[in-house]
Amino acid sequence: MYSQKVMDHFMNPRNVGKIDLASGVGEVGNPVCGDIMHIEIKVNDEDIIEDIKFNTFGCAAAIATSSMVTEMVKGKTLEEAERITNRAVAEALDGLPEVKMHCSNLAADALHEAIKDYMAKRETASA
Ligand code: FES
Repeated sequence: MYSQKVMDHFMNPRNVGKIDLASGVGEVGNPVCGDIMHIEIKVNDEDIIEDIKFNTFGCAAAIATSSMVTEMVKGKTLEEAERITNRAVAEALDGLPEVKMHCSNLAADALHEAIKDYMAKRETASA
């Protein structure tokens, strides 16, 4: 039912944990099942996401999509990261079963929340 890539990211999730002094933090809950995804990013002066970590309290698909999104954005600019969609994350995992597509909604949404949080903090700091 799950692709090899989903199983790999579920069994060996990349970038799990927390970042000391994170630049931005994003957390979203899935209204369908109540699962939660928490993402932290560290952004450098060139607006590049140089580190990203996550903690997900959810199913295999949610953990795999969290892990995949962290791999997709590490080293990318904020602009590139903002363009990543939930569907792109699911496709990078060679797809998800239709009934599990809602689980992929957490990944890019939590990332986008973390970027928004970083932008808000940056604006406050420069005000
Ligand atoms: Fe909750 Fe998959 S069942 S995120």
